[in-house]
Amino acid sequence: MDQLTAEYSRLLWAAVVLLAYLALCGRIWLRQRRQAVSDAPLADCILVGWASQGGAAQQLAEQLQHPLQAAGYQVHCAALHRLSHEQLQASRTLLFVVSTYGEGQPPEHARMFLHALPARLDLSHSNIQVLGLGDRRYPLFCQFARQLEQALLERGAQLAWPLLTVDSLHPQDIAAWHASLTQRFSLTFSDTFATPDAFSATLVERICLNPDSTSPSLFLLRFSVHDARWQAGDTLRLRPFNNPQLAVREYSIANACGETLELIVRQAGQCSGWLCQTLAAGEQIVFQVCAKPDFYAVPDAPAILIGAGSGLAGLRGHLQARPAGSHNWLVFGERCPDTDRVLAEEAENWLMGGHLQYLNLAFSRDPQQPAYVQDCLHTHQARLLEWLDNGAVIYLCGSLQGMGRSVESLLAELLGVRGFKALKQQGRYRADLY
Ligand SMILES: Cc1cc2nc3c(=O)[nH]c(=O)nc-3n(C[C@H](O)[C@H](O)[C@H](O)COP(=O)(O)OP(=O)(O)OC[C@H]3O[C@@H](n4cnc5c(N)ncnc54)[C@H](O)[C@@H]3O)c2cc1C
Ligand SMILES: Cc1cc2nc3c(=O)[nH]c(=O)nc-3n(C[C@H](O)[C@H](O)[C@H](O)COP(=O)(O)O)c2cc1C
Repeated sequence: MDQLTAEYSRLLWAAVVLLAYLALCGRIWLRQRRQAVSDAPLADCILVGWASQGGAAQQLAEQLQHPLQAAGYQVHCAALHRLSHEQLQASRTLLFVVSTYGEGQPPEHARMFLHALPARLDLSHSNIQVLGLGDRRYPLFCQFARQLEQALLERGAQLAWPLLTVDSLHPQDIAAWHASLTQRFSLTFSDTFATPDAFSATLVERICLNPDSTSPSLFLLRFSVHDARWQAGDTLRLRPFNNPQLAVREYSIANACGETLELIVRQAGQCSGWLCQTLAAGEQIVFQVCAKPDFYAVPDAPAILIGAGSGLAGLRGHLQARPAGSHNWLVFGERCPDTDRVLAEEAENWLMGGHLQYLNLAFSRDPQQPAYVQDCLHTHQARLLEWLDNGAVIYLCGSLQGMGRSVESLLAELLGVRGFKALKQQGRYRADLY
């Protein structure tokens, strides 16, 4: 009998604990739900969603708020991953400004947006207008904008305006979008779409870093600047010949902030040709600083800096800005060991002076030991894992196709897909690939 009572009392306790647990879950769920709903804008509020990696789409979206408010509309502007499904459903007017990355993919923060959009989400009461930012040199031009528009239409949304696209931030394309919004919402754009601060810099000198190479020339350009401010990891945007009619190009800033600004540019086409050949000492470039917070340094963590070719620019900015006594390891790739040892002296000095703990160079056309940066990392995988165990952060800069994908595959292989994902989630994988 005693045994039976003990059994009942155990069951009773289990039931009480289970009920308490369910009540707690319920409360958390209700609180989160209330939070989502209380974030939801009113039905007559215009929702402006953006997806951006370099900041241009975010800027265009945010700059839309003021003229809409001035015209009497309520506006809620947020990154796509911050928009709840309730918010999407609650708003009758949805505007989107989204860029495309990788090979036709959304920017990193918006990766899950379309996957997470329920097939049954009813948007039949919403009018949508999507602006895509992209670059026609990529085969899948504005692909994410197209996919987003398609996904919203499939959920019943009405097209208020057909998809508009902006090629390489071309001012005429942006003007066409403004015109569509002006017509729809009777907006006045006057000074609202002021571009971010423009700075000028004067070319002081230009040094060819690979004069004997059979590869396209790589130059270090040194400019004097006055009031421009940037952080290691930032890029700048400029137009060839400072001509506002031409498409914008982006370059990593290759040094720490000061009175001098440096770029490392590979001569390729129009803009790089202008920088590397036409622009004369004493002439000016007009540029905007493009903040890259996803590529900023994590102050106290050891740094593994990986790059190839002109990707050295973004890494050099970091290395100059890293504090004395910090732990830094540079893995850099070029083609030929005899002719492509770019900035070799500087790197050697860093190594000798202890600013670099390790310097690994990989030459893809080394007759003795051809290697890419990913091969080098594979060879030194024990050290790589040890550094990562000690909290190191990876900084990867340079070509996406030529190098970025291969390094990413290797990291996924060495750390496992989950391990690599965790590294990204911890903000310890920082890439600026192009
Ligand atoms: C975030 C970011 C950072 C970047 N950082 C750097 C950097 O630090 N350094 C750097 O050098 N680049 C960098 N780039 C690349 C840079 O923005 C340009 O894409 C690059 O300089 C080519 O632009 P372009 O106008 O010179 O070439 P375009 O005229 O646009 O030509 C594009 C391509 O077409 C081919 N092409 C065009 N004309 C000719 C020709 N006459 N002969 C042969 N081929 C031709 C070339 O392959 C060329 O690469 C970065 C890009 C991004 C997105
Ligand atoms: C690595 C990389 C990949 C890109 N891939 C594409 C692409 O596949 N399709 C496209 O139209 N534009 C592509 N672009 C161009 C960007 O979409 C374009 O520069 C846009 O203006 C960036 O906007 P953001 O600053 O808001 O991110 C790519 C740019 C980079 C740097």
